[in-house]
Amino acid sequence: MSNKVQKAVIPAAGLGTRFLPVTKSMPKEMLPIIDKPVIHYVVEEAVDSGIEDILLITGRGKRAIEDYFDDAPELRMHLERHGKSQQLDALKEIARFGGIHFVRQREPKGLGDAVLCAEKHCGDDPFAVLLGDDIMKDSTPCTQQLIDIFEKTGSSVIAVQKVPREHLNRYGIVKGKECGENLLLLDDIVEKPRPEAAPSSFGSIGRYVFTPALFSCLKHTTKGAGGEIQLTDAIRLLMKKEDVYAYLYQGKRFDTGDKLGYIETIIDFALEDETMRDSLNAFLKKSVRR
Ligand code: G1P
Repeated sequence: MSNKVQKAVIPAAGLGTRFLPVTKSMPKEMLPIIDKPVIHYVVEEAVDSGIEDILLITGRGKRAIEDYFDDAPELRMHLERHGKSQQLDALKEIARFGGIHFVRQREPKGLGDAVLCAEKHCGDDPFAVLLGDDIMKDSTPCTQQLIDIFEKTGSSVIAVQKVPREHLNRYGIVKGKECGENLLLLDDIVEKPRPEAAPSSFGSIGRYVFTPALFSCLKHTTKGAGGEIQLTDAIRLLMKKEDVYAYLYQGKRFDTGDKLGYIETIIDFALEDETMRDSLNAFLKKSVRR
């Protein structure tokens, strides 16, 4: 096993049922945060963390994701002919992500099963996993922070944040012992527990670095919460074989898979854009008075 994390797996095969009907004909990962789809920010985080080899796990109905990361020669030439340099720069931003690999999950059998589709691609190398609908914002990318821990410990590590009690049943909740600044050595993780059964208030937030031993654990994972093969259950098996850490991520996280989270993301991004900030602030103040 190499000590460097050079591969990332981005599961983007989910059906997006929380966003129906729009996700009937478009992938939820393509929902726009103003002018870029959610998946753009997820891939960007991996690239900004030094990863060049990215595998996206998709499924039927997700072709728009492949088109987004592909070249668009007609559009590019049209923009060149008309001297639209700003728009060309927007396309170049996507081109810098390089070649992205795609594999399809044949049936929506759960997140664990989607990650298992990456086994051949990752082989005996460690890899990062970035869930396709969480966007992170921090001066150092969240995945880079996990990679730094992996390089020190040689062990798998998952990012967690404190979750309000009423949301504990939306996350994989961890239990562990403090073993460093913002670091826990885990002894348990439970997928979407009832609040009274939750082992702590720290929830996994969709960023992970794993040793390749995760794959054999995934193969031994049976259906769990929601009748799906859960990544969380495979992580619990991994803990029996190897150390697994949780890292308390201090940056911002946006859950665009949730309607309210999606709106908050757009507002936050718009408020950072100086061409929109003042007008949007004025609009928000007016709306709040109503
Ligand atoms: C998934 C994982 C869960 C994790 C969450 C983070 O759940 O199964 O363990 O805490 O992502 O967003 P999902 O949101 O896909 O239901």
